[in-house]
Amino acid sequence: MRNQATGRFDGFPADFLWGCSTASYQIEGGTSSGGRGPSIWDAFCREPGRVLGGQNGDFACESHRRWPEDVELLRELGVGAYRFSVAWPRIQPAGRGKPLQAGLDHYARQADALLEAGIEPWATLYHWDLPLALEEAGGWPERETALRFAEYADLCFRALGGRVKRWATLNEPWCSAFLGYGTGEHAPGRRDRAAAYRAAHHLLLGHGLAVRAFRASGAGGEIGIVINPATPRPATARPEDRLAAERASEERTALWLGPIYGGAYPERHLAAQGAAMPIEAGDMAAVAEPIDFVGVNYYNEDAVRAVPAGPEAPEGFAYAPTWQDKTEMGWDIEPRGLLRVMSHIAKTWSPKALYVTENGAAFRDEPDAAGRIRDLDRIAYLRGHLAACEEAVAEGLPLRGYFVWTLMDNFEWAWGYSRYFGLVRVDQRTGERRPKASFRYYRDVVAGHGL
Ligand code: FCB
Repeated sequence: MRNQATGRFDGFPADFLWGCSTASYQIEGGTSSGGRGPSIWDAFCREPGRVLGGQNGDFACESHRRWPEDVELLRELGVGAYRFSVAWPRIQPAGRGKPLQAGLDHYARQADALLEAGIEPWATLYHWDLPLALEEAGGWPERETALRFAEYADLCFRALGGRVKRWATLNEPWCSAFLGYGTGEHAPGRRDRAAAYRAAHHLLLGHGLAVRAFRASGAGGEIGIVINPATPRPATARPEDRLAAERASEERTALWLGPIYGGAYPERHLAAQGAAMPIEAGDMAAVAEPIDFVGVNYYNEDAVRAVPAGPEAPEGFAYAPTWQDKTEMGWDIEPRGLLRVMSHIAKTWSPKALYVTENGAAFRDEPDAAGRIRDLDRIAYLRGHLAACEEAVAEGLPLRGYFVWTLMDNFEWAWGYSRYFGLVRVDQRTGERRPKASFRYYRDVVAGHGL
């Protein structure tokens, strides 16, 4: 809040929530335990050349078995909330039909332990592990997948709704649609831009139908969506670069929040892509089912410039080189971008609440002689972004909480186990967890309720 007299930041509101995020496929391992069915990521990892080093999530952090240790770490960290994801193939191994009790019990037990530790469980229903059987039937480009997702979500609300009070339907649907079906960098690895747009609509439809099911279930609590919005900077002040920057933002931001907040898909964008959405009667009303919050995953901000549209740049823009320091992912470190993207969302769509649902950085994390990780670069990254959150609150944006990505080093998708975002190091051979300096830093932030 801003102090009326001094105009300066006066601290985070008392109910500001501090948390930490993970995702099922990245940490659980135990991919055939408890009757879990295969997901698109299990299959993708087995295709040569898809994931660095041919690695996969079979063991990951073994959290399916070691989750009590994770809860213990979270308790030490002192966070108020833990955002994890439910693995759909643990609940419905083939993506449809009767739920597996073992799967539901697993998440119920974990939620109970979190509540016991004074930590609010935040469940994401879909963090990319689609049951493989649904992909074999056509995946997200097919309407059927949206209907199956709503059914699965309903099973979760009914079984876990007493314990879990905050839900996110999807994590970063842009990645599911455009990396999964457009560029093929993520599972299922298809390269078909028209399919990516169909997937985008069905992801949103699945989201809206799930929100509807949530209200109908009477479970109580809040529900929202987690996106990875972007408002890139124009590389120069030239009008064509400004326009390019706007268009680059549309695919990541307006394409999702536009329809969710009752509008249409950005026509200019679809027209430029020659893309058509498979909209049926009633779909847009379902997509626009009111939500309680928008989750913002933020890592970096790019700069773009206009280039002639062509096969290399179908949208008529390209990323420009920047001066910013980069993380190990090659992503720019630009904390003010977090403020800019949240301001844009707040101004354009007026969400009831915003949460930073992921923010963090990969660095090399070389251990010192004593085997400790003094990850001062990660601390500096978090500090800069927390300062941007202070500013957001001071400016009156409805920012209600912040979650670090991530509790521990894990399977970083196509990068395998080569990029570390964790506050805790995980020994890849033994599964042993060891807090880094950033863990202690964030613990102090939480204890002090801010910087
Ligand atoms: C986000 C994903 C998350 C993690 C971070 C680094 O896009 O949601 O699972 O991999 O990037």
